[in-house]
Amino acid sequence: MKDINWGELSFGYVKTDYNVRCYYRDGKWGELEVSSDENVNLHIAATALHYGQESFEGLKAFKGKDGNVRLFRWEENAKRMRNSAKGIRMAEVPDEIFIAAVKKVIKLNDRFVPPYGSGASLYLRPLLIGSGPQVGVKPAEEYMFMIFVTPVGPYFKEGFKPVKIKIERNYDRAAPLGTGNIKVGGNYAASLNALYDAHEEGYASSLFLDACEKKYIDEAGPANFFGIKNNTYITPKSTSILPSITNMSLIEIAKDMGMNVERRAIEVEELSTFEEAGACGTAAVISPIGQIDDVANDKSYVYTTGEAGKISTELYKRLQGIQMGDVEDKFGWVELV
Ligand code: PLP
Ligand code: COI
Repeated sequence: MKDINWGELSFGYVKTDYNVRCYYRDGKWGELEVSSDENVNLHIAATALHYGQESFEGLKAFKGKDGNVRLFRWEENAKRMRNSAKGIRMAEVPDEIFIAAVKKVIKLNDRFVPPYGSGASLYLRPLLIGSGPQVGVKPAEEYMFMIFVTPVGPYFKEGFKPVKIKIERNYDRAAPLGTGNIKVGGNYAASLNALYDAHEEGYASSLFLDACEKKYIDEAGPANFFGIKNNTYITPKSTSILPSITNMSLIEIAKDMGMNVERRAIEVEELSTFEEAGACGTAAVISPIGQIDDVANDKSYVYTTGEAGKISTELYKRLQGIQMGDVEDKFGWVELV
């Protein structure tokens, strides 16, 4: 392999040695298989291709100072993938298969786990698709579960530097009773025009509002939103956002720091009252938000023009510290591989 410059990695695809796959046929899951092929051979009438029967996950493995590889809260990803499967009528992947696949794919690609201190990590992308054919709108009878891995750096090129984001008023990502609360490909397809516009206009991401009233904050592209004021961590409650594992972890860390936590509807106008704001997710970790523009209303909410705020920085340090093994894992979130 070409030498990887770990410190320079962006959030992208790097070819690794192996992926793992498991097939659901005749009502049951088969044995885990190992493949070195980057391609998938798929039926032309597979429901994943026509009716969007597809769900994916994202989790990371980190190499610690002690050389151990640590996985962060995989049970939550397995659970969310089961929920996603339920939400679009796919076969559910049992936790035993999920974790066996996760461990196997990490071990097989050990040389791609970025070294401690590089700022990079190994990103795992579990994928569940309807592989069986249907022509009428119906769930498939056959499914494929796969995981590939790729070493990644920061999701936003700014890394842990404040980003500028834009309130999206031309597109909705997900409907209140739709699929926004599960991790299915259609949600991301629905976000692409907004994301494209945001990038064109020089923003790192778009901030979606509730689709019904366009009054409340939903989430920030591929990450949840949080705001901080009066020693309180505040994050939206909405049926159209993805329950972020990073966000649920930050909530526990914030409580542990002696902060109050509120999960509730956040009106756009409340943005002017926050002392700090951020976007959080596996890929983004914490991306501090420097400024939010509501272009249609000619308004800007500015949190910082320099460094990230103190509380966001502390949350980030504690979360990454646990993930890397530098900070005591008092919540029991980390498993050694
Ligand atoms: N929101 C969306 C739409 C996402 O795609 C993700 C990433 O998975 C998140 C939030 C953050 O979730 P998590 O912290 O579990 O990665
Ligand atoms: C993640 O944070 O893992 C994501 O899946 C976000 C994005 C890359 C889709």
